[in-house]
Amino acid sequence: MVAQVIDGKAFAGDVRGRVAEHVARLKADHGITPGLAVVLVGEDPASQVYVRSKGKMTVEVGMNSFEHKLDAETSEDELLALVAQLNADPAVHGILVQLPLPGHLNEDLVINAIDPAKDVDGFHISNVGLLATGQKAMVPCTPLGCLMMLREHHGNLSGLEAVVVGRSNIVGKPMAQLLLRDSCTVTIAHSRTKDLPDVVRRADIVVAAVGRPEMVPGDWIKPGATVIDVGINRVDAPEKGEGKTRLVGDCHYESCAEVAGAITPVPGGVGPMTIACLLANTLTACCRANG
Ligand code: GUN
Repeated sequence: MVAQVIDGKAFAGDVRGRVAEHVARLKADHGITPGLAVVLVGEDPASQVYVRSKGKMTVEVGMNSFEHKLDAETSEDELLALVAQLNADPAVHGILVQLPLPGHLNEDLVINAIDPAKDVDGFHISNVGLLATGQKAMVPCTPLGCLMMLREHHGNLSGLEAVVVGRSNIVGKPMAQLLLRDSCTVTIAHSRTKDLPDVVRRADIVVAAVGRPEMVPGDWIKPGATVIDVGINRVDAPEKGEGKTRLVGDCHYESCAEVAGAITPVPGGVGPMTIACLLANTLTACCRANG
């Protein structure tokens, strides 16, 4: 079997197009422009790339983008004061504090200081609880993007065996909640799971989110299963020349694609969907704020 490639880049383009249409209607009919504030503390190169890309796409769909770049020595009080200011600003409908924060800042404290209604990352403890109890929550963007691709590919997910590899608060745990909400039978596997290959082999749906390059080989995949690869890992690529690198996922793409029914590529799979969902969440937050 050769897997169908799930084109996250194209799908994300469709989602952004729908968001842009809705934003244009909001402006024309109600004079409202959704606004997303992104806060970056320090100079982590990967975070800088993400933040730049988020800002560019926010503007492209017609929203206002507010970027706040603070230096790495910013104190917790200064950061909390900025969050309070953004909470109170009616032009800001979504707030995202880019993670990871420098070590001297308490991430939980900062995230939980964001107004839950503006928490477009879905990381605030209220949104985590709302999602876990099946109530109306802001849903974390990466798992939401994965769910949208799964629904698009499968239609109904009810009754399918899903194995999520990775138990992070950002991806693994909320992904499991979303799959459960769609009536999958869900297993969360992780580094201490016994017989991990056999657990993964049970799955109709595998979501890999461990941050370890090419950890899942094709012989862990049940023939015909759908593989969603959340990993974005930069590895050396001496075959491309000295000092060159390439991006790989948490799954070994070539061997998984030989067995799976469908698979997301890296890059061009989950990544673009994450930003599209961030914009969709910002639009949702704006619509809820304006009744
Ligand atoms: N760092 C890596 N991914 C994310 C994300 O989805 N949201 C935030 N705030 N920081 C991140």
